[in-house]
Amino acid sequence: MKKGELLTINIDKLAFGGKGIARVDNRVVFVEGGLPGDRAEVKIQKVKKKHIDARITDVIKPSPLRREAECSHFGQCGGCKWQNLDYRHQVQFKREQLLESFRHLAGLTPEVIHQTTPSPLIFAYRNKMEFSFTDNRWLVPEELADPRIKKDFALGLHVPGSYDRVMHIEKCWLQDDVMNRILNFSQNYFKQSGLPVFNLKTHEGLLRFLVLRKSFSHGEYMVNIVTFRPAESLLADYANKLNSQFPEITSIINTVNPRVAQIAFGEEEYVLSGQDHITEKMDEFTFEISANSFFQTNPLQAVHLYHTVQKYAGRHNNLIWDLYSGTGTIAMFLAGNARKVKGFELVESAVMDARNNCAGNSIDNCEFIAGDIRDNISGTSDNPDIIVCDPPRSGMHEDILKAIMNKRPQKIVYVSCNPATMARDIQQLTTVYQVAEIQPIDMFPHTYHIESVARLELK
Ligand SMILES: C[S@@+](CC[C@H](N)C(=O)[O-])C[C@H]1O[C@@H](n2cnc3c(N)ncnc32)[C@H](O)[C@@H]1O
Repeated sequence: MKKGELLTINIDKLAFGGKGIARVDNRVVFVEGGLPGDRAEVKIQKVKKKHIDARITDVIKPSPLRREAECSHFGQCGGCKWQNLDYRHQVQFKREQLLESFRHLAGLTPEVIHQTTPSPLIFAYRNKMEFSFTDNRWLVPEELADPRIKKDFALGLHVPGSYDRVMHIEKCWLQDDVMNRILNFSQNYFKQSGLPVFNLKTHEGLLRFLVLRKSFSHGEYMVNIVTFRPAESLLADYANKLNSQFPEITSIINTVNPRVAQIAFGEEEYVLSGQDHITEKMDEFTFEISANSFFQTNPLQAVHLYHTVQKYAGRHNNLIWDLYSGTGTIAMFLAGNARKVKGFELVESAVMDARNNCAGNSIDNCEFIAGDIRDNISGTSDNPDIIVCDPPRSGMHEDILKAIMNKRPQKIVYVSCNPATMARDIQQLTTVYQVAEIQPIDMFPHTYHIESVARLELK
């Protein structure tokens, strides 16, 4: 088999990462866009030692799980790889992939993994979207044929796997109607404004990102234009016009990223209009979210994640450790079930947010320790009843796992966005702990991302 060859295959599974899997002559073929049940003609793109990568050229017989994707950008934008897969099957596959990750774990029976909690909204569920400006628009095949479309401006999303190819987005189904209208207004305004787009090669120009945020509970919207240098006066007219068209906008900000790296993070911040934050409520807690704050992007589902952590932690604890505590949301949800919650977090600004979030909600039994957990955890002499951890995708360092096992809390609640590293870490913990239950929670419909919470009890 070689590159460019056409094959006719039957796809029978989904791989971790969302691609379809077929087997040909005992070799695994990963098919971008393929769904279980599809019979398709595919073109080989890469032949590797252990597998083949291929792309669908023709769906001969579509899988019964297929549905029409709502979005006109589906297949070209990298955002929603599974919009063509019926949602009930998306959540089912997420559970199956979790099971697959834990397959090698001795003693774990499938019943331990609950059915995935579906997201309350499957469209318009995001409270934050980042759109990039470009002066070199990426044209999709249908656009290439239209001579009226100019390449010198776009405000949209990245083509998958590419940092410098940005395609125009007319409507994104992951954000609500107001956010789509703000996007369209901004595309038209800046296209005609004459303000230069920041160029990724020459590092000249101004406009970098449009970041939209929304609070579901208060119906407030924030618009943040990220520029290469301060642009308060240059953006004044834009802010005025936005305000007159969108009464829902309560905050217009200009943040500045003067660095070469193309990230939507501002080092300086200028308030062009309204407040410097929007306010979100979850249960009885209120959060002030500013331009640079981290906040879960599907808040209506995040509350179910936090309720699961609350339930697994149980009540009447003396001391809870919250490892990788971020902006302190988990600690806040646990504060009512413990005498004290101690959070450990690397990023100083997240620790400041966590302290402010607690103060703003009159929570006085949470303490946050800034720094690398590896440096801070072993020197801490107190003994927690429970350790909750929510590590990044890479999972936990071996030293931290050892330190946790030395502490021997009664219970561990492990929150994860990566089943592979979660299973690897839990494997180590099972020398002392047993897995009582795992709850997958779908935070990101139409993507293959899987969030889950595990409860481990001391054997
Ligand atoms: C998945 S997030 C947790 C978010 C948090 N639960 C929240 O709701 O805000 C992982 C967090 O781990 C932090 N982190 C990563 N490596 C760390 C380390 N070695 N020590 C302490 N914190 C670390 C990151 O800064 C990030 O805030």
